[in-house]
Amino acid sequence: MNTEIVDNIRKAVDIVDIISRYVSLVPKGKNYWGVCPFHDDHSPSMSVSKEKQIYTCFSCGASGNVFNFIEDFENVSFREALKILGDIAGIPVDGIKIKNNNNINKNLYDIYDISIKFYTNNLNTNYGIKAREYLKNRGIDDQLIKTFQIGLSLPKRDMLTRLLVKKGFSNKDMVDSGLIIKSDYGYSDIYHNRIIFPLCDVSGNIVGYSGRIYNGEDESKYINTKETAIFKKGELLYNYHRAKEECRKTNTVIITEGFMDVIRCHSVGILNVVATMGTAFTKKHIMLIRKLAKNVILMFDGDSAGAKATESCSNLLMEYNITPKIVRLEENLDPDEYVLKYGKEQLIQKLENPINIMDFKLMNLKNNRDLNNSTDKANYVKDVFTELKKIDDDILREVSLNKLSEDVGLNIEFLKEKLDYKKNNQTTYQTIKPIIKQEKNKSKYDKAQMYLIYYMLKSDKVIKMYDEKVTYMPNEKYRRLATYISCFYKDKGYIYIADLMTYLSQFEGTKEIIGEILNLNLKDDYTISEINDYIYTIKEYSLRDEIKRLKKEQEKEIESFKKAEIGMKILELKKMEQEERYYDK
Ligand code: GTP
Ligand code: MN
Repeated sequence: MNTEIVDNIRKAVDIVDIISRYVSLVPKGKNYWGVCPFHDDHSPSMSVSKEKQIYTCFSCGASGNVFNFIEDFENVSFREALKILGDIAGIPVDGIKIKNNNNINKNLYDIYDISIKFYTNNLNTNYGIKAREYLKNRGIDDQLIKTFQIGLSLPKRDMLTRLLVKKGFSNKDMVDSGLIIKSDYGYSDIYHNRIIFPLCDVSGNIVGYSGRIYNGEDESKYINTKETAIFKKGELLYNYHRAKEECRKTNTVIITEGFMDVIRCHSVGILNVVATMGTAFTKKHIMLIRKLAKNVILMFDGDSAGAKATESCSNLLMEYNITPKIVRLEENLDPDEYVLKYGKEQLIQKLENPINIMDFKLMNLKNNRDLNNSTDKANYVKDVFTELKKIDDDILREVSLNKLSEDVGLNIEFLKEKLDYKKNNQTTYQTIKPIIKQEKNKSKYDKAQMYLIYYMLKSDKVIKMYDEKVTYMPNEKYRRLATYISCFYKDKGYIYIADLMTYLSQFEGTKEIIGEILNLNLKDDYTISEINDYIYTIKEYSLRDEIKRLKKEQEKEIESFKKAEIGMKILELKKMEQEERYYDK
């Protein structure tokens, strides 16, 4: 790859500007700070340095330059990140192939590639007449069928199996894909006689299916593919990759319960909609949602199950400082049915006027309670207080207190005093515990290596000292990193950490080590004697290590002249150790 283009693209964009497109950043001191999107956090633990053009999270240790950020945030390969940033910078990256083909699960993706062609084709054959009719009756036209790659599995139970065998897939791959099952009678298809809805991962690769009955059979309504190496229900949101752009444009993401709701919304031009796959919300889902938009609207089914799901989902969201807005639909309708019954305009009207979370909760808590009854009233106030303590929005809290005061006829100042929210609220914030190992637990040798690398990243003078004096670093991970830094410097003639990060991308695991070292946050300036101290400590370790090893070897040795030979070596090293001690002092 042409590293000049890569460096030029990196220089042409500003990391603060790019990351701000995804995460809101606040300037503080030399750096910008935001909530790290790479672990489940809700406090601003990620810093972005304009000067160094890198980001580091002091909680999870994620770090990198602008390419690494895009790779990890968008779940794309380095080459794709390059393309995205090249587009922004106006620097073409033509000729760079972006498809990554050496994936360990390549066969599984290939099976989905083949099966979706098969299924979508079936729908257009004579076998598909009934299914097409069903879709048409549900208002799913050809355009939607194409967009959502809707297909059809046939009544015969081994059509896909035979196709895959013919294409040369092993039995193991077929079973691992989740589409084929082995029984006493041999191998057969999971899906037969169902309409097939593909499920995509965040990058848009098909990784599973949901198959719906369509001609009145008395079975479960949907069959979803089981979890496989590439399909994890708790990590996937239906329509994520299609909705991404619109979510970012509108800074709003709408969440529904069913994927049919997503398809219906899409059909009336509401594109920023995603759904879970019939599973409860997970932390992973929340992290995905956080990547999409700041504003979240929950539009679940209008029935009581939908209300319950709204409640639990919003509680989870609020643990992550996301305060969702709510849309409730009448007559137990789901969004799909609502559009079909009341039309697009009415749904848009609802989406434009979502209710805030506290109003939704007040409404629920008031349900089945008689506020003229003192016990009911007292319980109502208690329950509302519990909810208010979860809220991280001062204005919303004040507004809701006002409503509560009206509801129960108590003075607002009195309620405020009782809520005592300042004290209670603080307990809801967790203190941030760094996930990465504390420096304190490190040996003095590890520290010396880390400190030395810290200053190698800052100054070519220190790199030169390392090259001249350090022959061997005891810890393998620091040894590798130091070697890479030295190589980078030899190649480029300068040290700049953001460009170094690009270079390091080719070496697995090095970014994490750099993150750990950058998080040391040592003082900016250093003295030569400090650097020499680190080098001395490193050398001392290596020698001691070698002496220990030799002593053990000596003990095991039977032949006396060999024993003596080793003894000579040990003496030599001990002498070196003595000399090292006064080296450069
Ligand atoms: P339609 O009846 O086709 O309109 O579907 P819906 O979107 O109204 O689905 P529903 O509200 O009944 O369920 C919401 C989601 O739960 C669906 O999108 C599915 O992902 C999941 N789901 C529903 N029924 C089943 C089922 O029988 N089996 C499985 N595995 N998932 C289901
Ligand atoms: Mn429905």
